[in-house]
Amino acid sequence: MMTPQIIEKINLFTPAEKITSKIICGDSFDILKEMSPNSIDLVVTSPPYADQREKTYGGVSPDKYVEWFLPISGELLKTLKPTGTFILNVKEKVVNGERHTYVLDLILSMKKQGWLWTEEFIWHKKNCYPGKWPNRFRDSWERLLQFNKQPKFNMYQESVMVPMGDWAKNRLKNLSETDKKRDDSKVGSGFGKNISKWVGREMAYPTNVLTMATEISNKNHSAVFPKELPLWFIKLFTKEGDIVLDPFLGSGTTAIAALELDRNAIGIEIKEDYCQLAIKNINEQLKKYGKN
Ligand SMILES: C[S@@+](CC[C@H](N)C(=O)[O-])C[C@H]1O[C@@H](n2cnc3c(N)ncnc32)[C@H](O)[C@@H]1O
Repeated sequence: MMTPQIIEKINLFTPAEKITSKIICGDSFDILKEMSPNSIDLVVTSPPYADQREKTYGGVSPDKYVEWFLPISGELLKTLKPTGTFILNVKEKVVNGERHTYVLDLILSMKKQGWLWTEEFIWHKKNCYPGKWPNRFRDSWERLLQFNKQPKFNMYQESVMVPMGDWAKNRLKNLSETDKKRDDSKVGSGFGKNISKWVGREMAYPTNVLTMATEISNKNHSAVFPKELPLWFIKLFTKEGDIVLDPFLGSGTTAIAALELDRNAIGIEIKEDYCQLAIKNINEQLKKYGKN
């Protein structure tokens, strides 16, 4: 096994403000075991998908996925602050003509492990390749599962507000009587809305479907996610100076996003060449932003 190699980079913006990016080359499980409990504000990560990238970084069989991931999520549970959030990007693959259930099994097992499954976001990939399959259409979305340690966690909703859009022009023009008072859900969900409250407002809270640009600039890693994805979650769940961890760092996207928003970053990557690629990408980004 590769000896964990720790490369630490410290950037000073002002004498009072110190933002650190720590990139660790090694196995997440081994490194996480050594990390302090309750020390991380946000985990954003995209682990290897089941069997998907065998040729590049070793796949995990769909049947063994939960067994492989649980020790790591157990360490993340220890490492995350009680007010912190864990965002897990994962999508089940098709095996023998049907969707495998390892993601669903993983959610149930993580709940037993002590996590709360608080939310699920959909990443709508608008630029996926055209294609034809005999029994399904092309896949253009992935899951971003949100887990927390407790129901009350840090969330800065104002930081991701979106313009109201054309919807408001028509919908808010002629309000019915129901629209003017709190209208409790007819299905008994406990949710209620008072649409008139939004008249005259320019910004609204977003939905849980994310449609950010999916242009990926880094071609040296085979499974990169767009920087907009971690940027959005970092804005939503952390504030400046907080600590963001990606235990499957790949080319360094999460760390780059964290540094761009003045959050401290910790990244763990098992493959030596990806680890070096992440360090190179982070350094380039720091130069671009004049933070180095
Ligand atoms: C899906 S990729 C992450 C890509 C990343 N989000 C990006 O934008 O570049 C998963 C990464 O996890 C790494 N990995 C796999 N098993 C690991 C482990 N046990 N510990 C640390 N890294 C691991 C792989 O080498 C791969 O680079």
